[in-house]
Amino acid sequence: MTAIPTDPTANPAAEPGRLAGRLIAVGVTGSIAAYKAADLVRRLRDEGADVVVLMTSSAIRFVGEMTFAALTRHPVESDVGGLLPDQRIGHIVVADSADAIVVAPATAHWLAAMAAGLSGDSVTATCLATTAPVIVAPAMDGDMYAHPATQANRTRLRDDFGYTIVEPDAGPLASGQSGRGRLAETGEIVDAVVAAIGASPIRASDPAARPPLVDEPREADLEGRHVVVSAGGTAEPIDPVRFITNRSSGRMGVALADAALARGARVTLVAGHVSVPLPQGPAVQVVHAARTSDLGEAVRAAMRDADVLVMAAAVADFRPRAIADRKLNRDAGLTLELEPTEDILAAIGADVAALPSGARRPYLVGFAAETGSLDRAADKLRRKGVDLLVANDVAEEGSGFGTDTNHVWILSADGDQVDLPLRSKRAVADEIFDRVVRALDDRDVAAQTDRVTQEKQA
Ligand code: CTP
Repeated sequence: MTAIPTDPTANPAAEPGRLAGRLIAVGVTGSIAAYKAADLVRRLRDEGADVVVLMTSSAIRFVGEMTFAALTRHPVESDVGGLLPDQRIGHIVVADSADAIVVAPATAHWLAAMAAGLSGDSVTATCLATTAPVIVAPAMDGDMYAHPATQANRTRLRDDFGYTIVEPDAGPLASGQSGRGRLAETGEIVDAVVAAIGASPIRASDPAARPPLVDEPREADLEGRHVVVSAGGTAEPIDPVRFITNRSSGRMGVALADAALARGARVTLVAGHVSVPLPQGPAVQVVHAARTSDLGEAVRAAMRDADVLVMAAAVADFRPRAIADRKLNRDAGLTLELEPTEDILAAIGADVAALPSGARRPYLVGFAAETGSLDRAADKLRRKGVDLLVANDVAEEGSGFGTDTNHVWILSADGDQVDLPLRSKRAVADEIFDRVVRALDDRDVAAQTDRVTQEKQA
Protein backbone atom coordinates (compact mmCIF):
# COMPACT_ATOMS: atom_id res chain seq x y z
CA MET A 1 0.00 0.00 0.00
CA THR A 2 1.32 3.42 -0.83
CA ALA A 3 1.79 5.30 2.41
CA ILE A 4 -0.35 8.39 2.63
CA PRO A 5 2.07 11.25 3.12
CA THR A 6 1.18 13.53 6.02
CA ASP A 7 3.01 16.79 6.28
CA PRO A 8 1.84 18.72 9.32
CA THR A 9 3.62 21.85 8.10
CA ALA A 10 1.69 21.83 4.81
CA ASN A 11 -1.09 24.07 6.09
CA PRO A 12 -0.19 25.54 9.48
CA ALA A 13 -3.43 27.54 9.57
CA ALA A 14 -5.62 24.42 9.36
CA GLU A 15 -7.17 23.12 12.55
CA PRO A 16 -6.69 19.35 12.35
CA GLY A 17 -9.80 17.21 12.38
CA ARG A 18 -12.37 19.71 11.08
CA LEU A 19 -13.70 16.98 8.77
CA ALA A 20 -13.38 14.02 11.16
CA GLY A 21 -15.85 11.26 10.29
CA ARG A 22 -16.98 12.98 7.06
CA LEU A 23 -16.97 11.48 3.58
CA ILE A 24 -15.85 14.02 0.96
CA ALA A 25 -16.12 13.28 -2.76
CA VAL A 26 -13.52 15.06 -4.91
CA GLY A 27 -14.57 15.47 -8.56
CA VAL A 28 -11.60 15.84 -10.89
CA THR A 29 -12.14 17.09 -14.45
CA GLY A 30 -9.74 17.39 -17.39
CA SER A 31 -7.56 20.38 -16.64
CA ILE A 32 -3.79 20.52 -16.43
CA ALA A 33 -4.40 21.42 -12.76
CA ALA A 34 -5.76 17.87 -12.17
CA TYR A 35 -2.47 16.96 -10.48
CA LYS A 36 -3.27 19.51 -7.75
CA ALA A 37 -6.28 17.38 -6.77
CA ALA A 38 -3.85 14.85 -5.25
CA ASP A 39 -2.72 17.54 -2.80
CA LEU A 40 -6.36 18.43 -2.10
CA VAL A 41 -7.14 14.78 -1.32
CA ARG A 42 -4.19 14.62 1.04
CA ARG A 43 -5.23 17.80 2.87
CA LEU A 44 -8.84 16.64 3.22
CA ARG A 45 -7.55 13.39 4.73
CA ASP A 46 -5.31 15.37 7.07
CA GLU A 47 -8.50 17.05 8.27
CA GLY A 48 -9.85 13.60 9.21
CA ALA A 49 -12.07 13.03 6.15
CA ASP A 50 -12.64 9.77 4.33
CA VAL A 51 -12.21 10.77 0.66
CA VAL A 52 -13.49 9.21 -2.56
CA VAL A 53 -12.53 10.51 -6.01
CA LEU A 54 -14.75 10.89 -9.08
CA MET A 55 -13.06 11.50 -12.45
CA THR A 56 -14.16 12.42 -15.93
CA SER A 57 -12.55 10.50 -18.78
CA SER A 58 -10.52 13.55 -19.82
CA ALA A 59 -9.16 13.92 -16.25
CA ILE A 60 -7.70 10.40 -16.54
CA ARG A 61 -5.48 11.71 -19.36
CA PHE A 62 -3.78 13.99 -16.82
CA VAL A 63 -3.63 11.79 -13.68
CA GLY A 64 -4.10 8.00 -13.39
CA GLU A 65 -6.88 6.53 -11.29
CA MET A 66 -4.30 4.45 -9.38
CA THR A 67 -2.86 7.60 -7.80
CA PHE A 68 -6.19 8.55 -6.27
CA ALA A 69 -7.14 4.97 -5.35
CA ALA A 70 -3.83 4.65 -3.47
CA LEU A 71 -4.34 7.99 -1.70
CA THR A 72 -7.97 7.39 -0.72
CA ARG A 73 -8.14 3.57 -0.44
CA HIS A 74 -11.43 3.75 -2.39
CA PRO A 75 -11.79 2.73 -6.05
CA VAL A 76 -12.12 5.82 -8.27
CA GLU A 77 -15.57 6.38 -9.80
CA SER A 78 -14.94 7.19 -13.44
CA ASP A 79 -17.63 5.16 -15.20
CA VAL A 80 -21.07 6.71 -14.93
CA GLY A 81 -22.74 3.31 -15.42
CA GLY A 82 -20.26 1.44 -13.25
CA LEU A 83 -21.44 -1.06 -10.65
CA LEU A 84 -19.66 -1.82 -7.40
CA PRO A 85 -18.75 -5.48 -6.70
CA ASP A 86 -21.95 -5.74 -4.63
CA GLN A 87 -24.00 -4.46 -7.61
CA ARG A 88 -24.74 -1.01 -6.13
CA ILE A 89 -24.42 1.88 -8.62
CA GLY A 90 -21.11 3.54 -7.76
CA HIS A 91 -21.96 7.20 -8.31
CA ILE A 92 -25.33 6.90 -6.52
CA VAL A 93 -23.61 5.44 -3.45
CA VAL A 94 -21.27 8.46 -3.45
CA ALA A 95 -24.17 10.90 -4.03
CA ASP A 96 -26.11 9.40 -1.11
CA SER A 97 -23.26 9.08 1.38
CA ALA A 98 -20.90 12.05 0.77
CA ASP A 99 -21.11 14.99 3.18
CA ALA A 100 -19.89 17.30 0.38
CA ILE A 101 -18.72 17.13 -3.22
CA VAL A 102 -15.85 19.37 -4.23
CA VAL A 103 -15.14 19.69 -7.95
CA ALA A 104 -11.50 20.76 -8.32
CA PRO A 105 -10.33 21.57 -10.89
CA ALA A 106 -13.55 22.34 -12.77
CA THR A 107 -13.06 22.99 -16.49
CA ALA A 108 -15.14 25.31 -18.70
CA HIS A 109 -16.59 22.21 -20.36
CA TRP A 110 -17.62 20.73 -17.02
CA LEU A 111 -19.22 24.01 -15.85
CA ALA A 112 -21.27 24.03 -19.08
CA ALA A 113 -22.28 20.37 -18.73
CA MET A 114 -23.29 20.92 -15.11
CA ALA A 115 -25.20 24.12 -15.88
CA ALA A 116 -27.16 22.18 -18.51
CA GLY A 117 -27.63 19.12 -16.27
CA LEU A 118 -25.87 16.80 -18.73
CA SER A 119 -25.07 13.68 -16.73
CA GLY A 120 -22.58 12.16 -19.19
CA ASP A 121 -19.72 11.79 -16.69
CA SER A 122 -19.57 10.53 -13.14
CA VAL A 123 -18.80 13.97 -11.64
CA THR A 124 -21.91 15.66 -13.13
CA ALA A 125 -24.07 12.59 -12.52
CA THR A 126 -23.08 12.50 -8.83
CA CYS A 127 -23.74 16.25 -8.39
CA LEU A 128 -27.17 15.83 -10.00
CA ALA A 129 -28.02 12.90 -7.74
CA THR A 130 -26.93 14.41 -4.42
CA THR A 131 -28.49 16.62 -1.76
CA ALA A 132 -25.03 17.31 -0.26
CA PRO A 133 -23.39 20.74 -0.66
CA VAL A 134 -21.30 21.14 -3.82
CA ILE A 135 -18.15 23.27 -3.93
CA VAL A 136 -16.67 24.16 -7.33
CA ALA A 137 -13.13 25.41 -7.92
CA PRO A 138 -12.71 26.36 -11.62
CA ALA A 139 -9.31 26.30 -13.38
CA MET A 140 -8.71 27.29 -16.99
CA ASP A 141 -7.25 29.92 -19.27
CA GLY A 142 -8.09 33.49 -18.16
CA ASP A 143 -9.96 34.41 -21.35
CA MET A 144 -11.97 31.19 -21.17
CA TYR A 145 -13.00 32.00 -17.63
CA ALA A 146 -13.89 35.58 -18.57
CA HIS A 147 -16.02 34.45 -21.54
CA PRO A 148 -19.72 35.32 -21.05
CA ALA A 149 -20.69 31.67 -21.60
CA THR A 150 -18.42 30.45 -18.78
CA GLN A 151 -19.46 33.32 -16.53
CA ALA A 152 -23.15 32.55 -17.14
CA ASN A 153 -22.59 28.87 -16.31
CA ARG A 154 -20.66 29.73 -13.14
CA THR A 155 -23.40 32.16 -12.06
CA ARG A 156 -26.10 29.56 -12.71
CA LEU A 157 -24.25 27.01 -10.54
CA ARG A 158 -23.90 29.59 -7.75
CA ASP A 159 -27.29 31.30 -7.87
CA ASP A 160 -29.67 28.62 -9.18
CA PHE A 161 -28.03 25.47 -7.76
CA GLY A 162 -26.66 26.97 -4.52
CA TYR A 163 -23.11 25.73 -5.19
CA THR A 164 -20.14 27.43 -3.53
CA ILE A 165 -17.69 28.79 -6.11
CA VAL A 166 -14.07 29.08 -5.02
CA GLU A 167 -12.89 31.73 -7.46
CA PRO A 168 -9.68 31.08 -9.38
CA ASP A 169 -6.58 33.14 -8.60
CA ALA A 170 -4.82 35.54 -10.95
CA GLY A 171 -1.30 34.66 -12.04
CA PRO A 172 0.76 32.77 -14.64
CA LEU A 173 -1.18 30.05 -16.47
CA ALA A 174 -0.23 26.81 -18.25
CA SER A 175 -0.55 28.62 -21.59
CA GLY A 176 2.33 30.91 -20.63
CA GLN A 177 -0.08 33.83 -20.38
CA SER A 178 -1.21 35.50 -17.23
CA GLY A 179 -4.82 35.91 -16.10
CA ARG A 180 -7.55 34.88 -13.63
CA GLY A 181 -7.82 31.14 -14.12
CA ARG A 182 -5.37 29.44 -11.75
CA LEU A 183 -6.92 26.90 -9.41
CA ALA A 184 -7.39 28.48 -5.97
CA GLU A 185 -4.95 27.54 -3.20
CA THR A 186 -5.66 24.11 -1.70
CA GLY A 187 -6.14 25.58 1.79
CA GLU A 188 -8.81 27.94 0.48
CA ILE A 189 -10.70 25.03 -1.15
CA VAL A 190 -10.51 22.97 2.08
CA ASP A 191 -11.82 25.94 4.09
CA ALA A 192 -14.73 26.29 1.63
CA VAL A 193 -15.60 22.60 2.09
CA VAL A 194 -15.55 22.95 5.89
CA ALA A 195 -17.75 26.06 5.70
CA ALA A 196 -20.24 24.47 3.28
CA ILE A 197 -20.76 21.46 5.55
CA GLY A 198 -21.05 23.58 8.71
CA ALA A 199 -22.53 21.69 11.64
CA SER A 200 -24.79 19.39 9.59
CA PRO A 201 -24.95 15.80 10.88
CA ILE A 202 -22.74 13.16 9.23
CA ARG A 203 -24.80 11.66 6.40
CA ALA A 204 -23.54 8.05 6.40
CA SER A 205 -21.41 7.05 9.35
CA ASP A 206 -21.84 3.33 8.62
CA PRO A 207 -18.93 2.24 6.34
CA ALA A 208 -21.30 -0.25 4.64
CA ALA A 209 -23.32 2.69 3.25
CA ARG A 210 -20.17 4.31 1.79
CA PRO A 211 -18.16 3.28 -1.28
CA PRO A 212 -16.12 0.11 -0.63
CA LEU A 213 -12.46 0.15 0.31
CA VAL A 214 -9.74 -1.05 -2.05
CA ASP A 215 -8.32 -4.36 -0.82
CA GLU A 216 -4.98 -4.03 0.89
CA PRO A 217 -2.60 -5.34 -1.76
CA ARG A 218 -1.09 -8.68 -0.65
CA GLU A 219 1.87 -10.44 -2.03
CA ALA A 220 0.67 -12.46 -5.05
CA ASP A 221 1.68 -15.68 -3.29
CA LEU A 222 -0.94 -17.80 -5.11
CA GLU A 223 0.06 -16.59 -8.57
CA GLY A 224 0.24 -19.47 -11.03
CA ARG A 225 -1.94 -21.67 -8.77
CA HIS A 226 -5.43 -22.92 -9.62
CA VAL A 227 -7.68 -22.81 -6.55
CA VAL A 228 -11.07 -24.54 -6.56
CA VAL A 229 -13.57 -23.33 -3.98
CA SER A 230 -17.05 -24.71 -3.37
CA ALA A 231 -19.55 -22.38 -1.71
CA GLY A 232 -23.16 -22.25 -0.59
CA GLY A 233 -25.64 -25.02 -0.03
CA THR A 234 -26.87 -27.76 -2.31
CA ALA A 235 -30.58 -28.54 -2.63
CA GLU A 236 -32.24 -31.92 -3.22
CA PRO A 237 -35.64 -31.91 -4.93
CA ILE A 238 -38.70 -33.59 -3.42
CA ASP A 239 -41.03 -32.73 -6.28
CA PRO A 240 -40.99 -30.04 -9.04
CA VAL A 241 -41.57 -27.21 -6.51
CA ARG A 242 -40.05 -28.37 -3.21
CA PHE A 243 -36.56 -29.21 -2.09
CA ILE A 244 -34.46 -29.98 1.00
CA THR A 245 -31.58 -27.63 1.69
CA ASN A 246 -29.70 -25.91 4.53
CA ARG A 247 -29.06 -22.41 5.86
CA SER A 248 -25.75 -21.74 4.09
CA SER A 249 -25.40 -18.21 2.62
CA GLY A 250 -22.15 -18.87 0.72
CA ARG A 251 -20.35 -16.02 2.58
CA MET A 252 -17.39 -18.11 3.72
CA GLY A 253 -16.84 -19.65 0.28
CA VAL A 254 -17.10 -16.28 -1.48
CA ALA A 255 -14.66 -14.76 1.05
CA LEU A 256 -12.26 -17.62 0.21
CA ALA A 257 -12.62 -17.03 -3.54
CA ASP A 258 -12.08 -13.26 -3.08
CA ALA A 259 -9.00 -13.87 -0.91
CA ALA A 260 -7.50 -16.33 -3.43
CA LEU A 261 -8.10 -13.87 -6.29
CA ALA A 262 -6.49 -11.02 -4.32
CA ARG A 263 -3.43 -13.27 -3.85
CA GLY A 264 -3.10 -13.85 -7.60
CA ALA A 265 -4.72 -17.28 -8.00
CA ARG A 266 -6.88 -18.48 -10.87
CA VAL A 267 -10.11 -19.49 -9.16
CA THR A 268 -12.94 -21.85 -10.03
CA LEU A 269 -15.89 -21.14 -7.75
CA VAL A 270 -18.44 -23.94 -7.72
CA ALA A 271 -21.53 -22.32 -6.23
CA GLY A 272 -24.62 -23.98 -4.85
CA HIS A 273 -27.38 -21.63 -3.72
CA VAL A 274 -25.84 -18.44 -2.33
CA SER A 275 -27.29 -15.17 -1.08
CA VAL A 276 -24.23 -12.95 -1.56
CA PRO A 277 -22.77 -11.42 -4.76
CA LEU A 278 -20.26 -13.66 -6.53
CA PRO A 279 -16.82 -12.43 -7.63
CA GLN A 280 -16.39 -11.41 -11.25
CA GLY A 281 -13.35 -10.94 -13.47
CA PRO A 282 -10.99 -12.66 -15.85
CA ALA A 283 -9.30 -14.79 -13.15
CA VAL A 284 -12.48 -16.41 -11.84
CA GLN A 285 -14.79 -18.97 -13.37
CA VAL A 286 -18.11 -19.46 -11.61
CA VAL A 287 -19.88 -22.79 -12.10
CA HIS A 288 -23.40 -23.08 -10.72
CA ALA A 289 -24.44 -26.41 -9.21
CA ALA A 290 -27.85 -26.96 -7.68
CA ARG A 291 -27.77 -30.57 -6.45
CA THR A 292 -25.07 -32.48 -4.61
CA SER A 293 -24.42 -34.62 -7.69
CA ASP A 294 -23.99 -31.45 -9.85
CA LEU A 295 -21.58 -30.00 -7.29
CA GLY A 296 -19.60 -33.24 -7.18
CA GLU A 297 -19.33 -33.35 -10.97
CA ALA A 298 -18.31 -29.67 -11.25
CA VAL A 299 -15.69 -29.94 -8.48
CA ARG A 300 -14.19 -33.10 -10.02
CA ALA A 301 -14.00 -31.45 -13.47
CA ALA A 302 -12.25 -28.40 -12.00
CA MET A 303 -9.84 -30.62 -10.02
CA ARG A 304 -8.13 -31.88 -13.19
CA ASP A 305 -5.45 -29.21 -12.97
CA ALA A 306 -6.12 -27.81 -9.49
CA ASP A 307 -3.46 -27.09 -6.90
CA VAL A 308 -5.92 -26.55 -4.06
CA LEU A 309 -9.50 -27.54 -3.23
CA VAL A 310 -11.36 -25.73 -0.47
CA MET A 311 -14.71 -27.41 0.20
CA ALA A 312 -16.64 -24.67 1.97
CA ALA A 313 -19.97 -25.77 0.50
CA ALA A 314 -22.66 -26.98 2.88
CA VAL A 315 -23.45 -30.12 0.96
CA ALA A 316 -26.88 -31.67 1.58
CA ASP A 317 -26.21 -34.99 3.32
CA PHE A 318 -29.51 -36.58 2.40
CA ARG A 319 -31.77 -36.65 -0.62
CA PRO A 320 -35.22 -38.11 -1.18
CA ARG A 321 -34.91 -41.70 -2.40
CA ALA A 322 -37.50 -40.88 -5.08
CA ILE A 323 -38.36 -37.51 -6.68
CA ALA A 324 -42.05 -37.07 -7.49
CA ASP A 325 -42.49 -35.86 -11.06
CA ARG A 326 -45.71 -34.00 -10.12
CA LYS A 327 -46.34 -31.62 -7.27
CA LEU A 328 -47.31 -33.66 -4.21
CA ASN A 329 -50.79 -33.09 -2.86
CA ARG A 330 -50.89 -31.95 0.78
CA ASP A 331 -54.10 -33.86 1.58
CA ALA A 332 -52.29 -37.16 1.25
CA GLY A 333 -49.71 -36.21 3.93
CA LEU A 334 -46.05 -36.95 3.29
CA THR A 335 -43.46 -39.37 4.57
CA LEU A 336 -40.09 -38.87 2.97
CA GLU A 337 -37.57 -41.64 2.64
CA LEU A 338 -34.10 -40.15 2.49
CA GLU A 339 -30.82 -41.68 1.42
CA PRO A 340 -27.31 -40.29 1.99
CA THR A 341 -25.68 -38.31 -0.81
CA GLU A 342 -22.14 -39.02 -1.95
CA ASP A 343 -19.49 -37.64 0.40
CA ILE A 344 -17.70 -35.65 -2.32
CA LEU A 345 -14.72 -34.57 -0.23
CA ALA A 346 -14.10 -38.04 1.21
CA ALA A 347 -14.20 -39.50 -2.33
CA ILE A 348 -11.71 -36.91 -3.64
CA GLY A 349 -9.55 -37.46 -0.52
CA ALA A 350 -9.46 -41.20 -1.29
CA ASP A 351 -8.58 -40.55 -4.96
CA VAL A 352 -5.74 -38.25 -3.95
CA ALA A 353 -4.43 -40.77 -1.39
CA ALA A 354 -4.36 -43.39 -4.15
CA LEU A 355 -2.17 -41.27 -6.46
CA PRO A 356 1.20 -42.85 -7.22
CA SER A 357 4.10 -41.46 -5.23
CA GLY A 358 5.73 -38.56 -7.02
CA ALA A 359 2.44 -37.48 -8.65
CA ARG A 360 1.40 -33.85 -8.14
CA ARG A 361 -1.08 -33.92 -5.25
CA PRO A 362 -3.66 -31.17 -4.82
CA TYR A 363 -3.88 -29.71 -1.33
CA LEU A 364 -7.28 -30.41 0.26
CA VAL A 365 -9.10 -28.22 2.77
CA GLY A 366 -12.38 -29.31 4.34
CA PHE A 367 -14.82 -27.55 6.61
CA ALA A 368 -16.65 -29.08 9.55
CA ALA A 369 -19.91 -27.57 10.68
CA GLU A 370 -20.50 -28.80 14.23
CA THR A 371 -22.96 -27.92 16.96
CA GLY A 372 -21.97 -27.96 20.62
CA SER A 373 -18.61 -29.72 20.55
CA LEU A 374 -15.70 -29.97 18.14
CA ASP A 375 -14.57 -33.38 19.42
CA ARG A 376 -15.41 -35.09 16.12
CA ALA A 377 -13.26 -32.69 14.05
CA ALA A 378 -9.97 -34.64 14.29
CA ASP A 379 -11.76 -37.80 13.23
CA LYS A 380 -13.41 -35.95 10.33
CA LEU A 381 -10.00 -34.75 9.14
CA ARG A 382 -8.79 -38.36 8.90
CA ARG A 383 -12.04 -39.69 7.47
CA LYS A 384 -12.07 -37.13 4.66
CA GLY A 385 -8.34 -37.49 3.93
CA VAL A 386 -7.78 -33.71 3.95
CA ASP A 387 -4.64 -31.73 4.72
CA LEU A 388 -6.49 -29.06 6.68
CA LEU A 389 -9.86 -29.04 8.41
CA VAL A 390 -11.54 -25.80 9.42
CA ALA A 391 -14.07 -26.51 12.14
CA ASN A 392 -16.63 -24.21 13.68
CA ASP A 393 -19.53 -24.42 16.08
CA VAL A 394 -22.38 -23.10 13.92
CA ALA A 395 -24.55 -22.65 17.03
CA GLU A 396 -22.11 -20.11 18.52
CA GLU A 397 -23.04 -16.37 18.40
CA GLY A 398 -21.33 -14.60 15.44
CA SER A 399 -20.18 -17.88 13.86
CA GLY A 400 -21.49 -20.09 11.10
CA PHE A 401 -24.40 -19.48 8.72
CA GLY A 402 -25.39 -16.02 7.53
CA THR A 403 -22.86 -14.07 9.64
CA ASP A 404 -19.93 -11.97 8.40
CA THR A 405 -17.68 -13.39 11.09
CA ASN A 406 -16.45 -16.80 12.13
CA HIS A 407 -14.71 -18.39 15.10
CA VAL A 408 -12.81 -21.41 13.80
CA TRP A 409 -10.30 -24.05 14.77
CA ILE A 410 -7.80 -25.01 12.10
CA LEU A 411 -6.60 -28.59 12.38
CA SER A 412 -3.87 -29.89 10.12
CA ALA A 413 -3.00 -33.45 9.16
CA ASP A 414 0.41 -33.08 10.82
CA GLY A 415 -1.33 -32.63 14.19
CA ASP A 416 -1.12 -28.85 14.45
CA GLN A 417 -4.25 -27.15 15.91
CA VAL A 418 -5.06 -23.46 16.30
CA ASP A 419 -8.06 -21.71 17.79
CA LEU A 420 -8.62 -18.45 15.88
CA PRO A 421 -10.72 -15.97 17.88
CA LEU A 422 -13.78 -14.42 16.16
CA ARG A 423 -12.84 -12.42 13.03
CA SER A 424 -14.25 -11.56 9.60
CA LYS A 425 -14.73 -14.44 7.17
CA ARG A 426 -12.26 -12.72 4.85
CA ALA A 427 -9.62 -12.70 7.61
CA VAL A 428 -10.34 -16.40 8.26
CA ALA A 429 -9.89 -17.02 4.52
CA ASP A 430 -6.48 -15.34 4.57
CA GLU A 431 -5.41 -17.39 7.63
CA ILE A 432 -6.33 -20.54 5.68
CA PHE A 433 -4.43 -19.44 2.56
CA ASP A 434 -1.36 -18.45 4.65
CA ARG A 435 -1.16 -22.16 5.61
CA VAL A 436 -2.00 -23.41 2.11
CA VAL A 437 0.74 -21.25 0.55
CA ARG A 438 3.34 -22.49 3.06
CA ALA A 439 2.38 -26.11 2.36
CA LEU A 440 2.42 -25.68 -1.45
CA ASP A 441 5.79 -23.94 -1.32
CA ASP A 442 7.18 -26.75 0.91
CA ARG A 443 5.86 -29.34 -1.56
CA ASP A 444 7.50 -27.52 -4.48
CA VAL A 445 10.83 -27.46 -2.64
CA ALA A 446 10.51 -31.17 -1.76
CA ALA A 447 9.63 -32.07 -5.38
CA GLN A 448 12.57 -30.04 -6.65
CA THR A 449 14.93 -31.78 -4.18
CA ASP A 450 13.62 -35.21 -5.25
CA ARG A 451 14.21 -34.36 -8.92
CA VAL A 452 17.77 -33.23 -8.27
CA THR A 453 18.46 -36.41 -6.23
CA GLN A 454 17.04 -38.62 -9.00
CA GLU A 455 19.08 -36.80 -11.67
CA LYS A 456 22.24 -37.30 -9.62
CA GLN A 457 21.48 -41.01 -9.21
CA ALA A 458 20.75 -41.50 -12.93
N1 CTP B 1 -18.97 -32.68 2.35
C1 CTP B 1 -18.96 -33.27 1.10
N2 CTP B 1 -19.99 -34.08 0.71
C2 CTP B 1 -21.02 -34.32 1.54
C3 CTP B 1 -21.04 -33.73 2.82
C4 CTP B 1 -20.00 -32.92 3.19
O1 CTP B 1 -18.02 -33.05 0.34
N3 CTP B 1 -22.01 -35.11 1.13
C5 CTP B 1 -17.84 -31.85 2.77
C6 CTP B 1 -18.20 -30.44 3.19
O2 CTP B 1 -18.13 -29.54 2.11
C7 CTP B 1 -17.14 -30.12 4.23
C8 CTP B 1 -16.84 -31.46 4.85
O3 CTP B 1 -17.27 -32.45 3.90
O4 CTP B 1 -15.96 -29.63 3.66
C9 CTP B 1 -17.51 -31.74 6.17
O5 CTP B 1 -18.88 -31.47 6.11
P1 CTP B 1 -19.82 -31.68 7.37
O6 CTP B 1 -21.22 -31.37 6.98
O7 CTP B 1 -19.24 -31.00 8.56
O8 CTP B 1 -19.59 -33.22 7.65
P2 CTP B 1 -20.37 -34.47 7.16
O9 CTP B 1 -19.50 -35.24 6.24
O10 CTP B 1 -21.70 -34.10 6.66
O11 CTP B 1 -20.46 -35.32 8.50
P3 CTP B 1 -21.55 -35.20 9.67
O12 CTP B 1 -22.87 -35.07 9.02
O13 CTP B 1 -21.34 -36.47 10.41
O14 CTP B 1 -21.18 -34.00 10.48
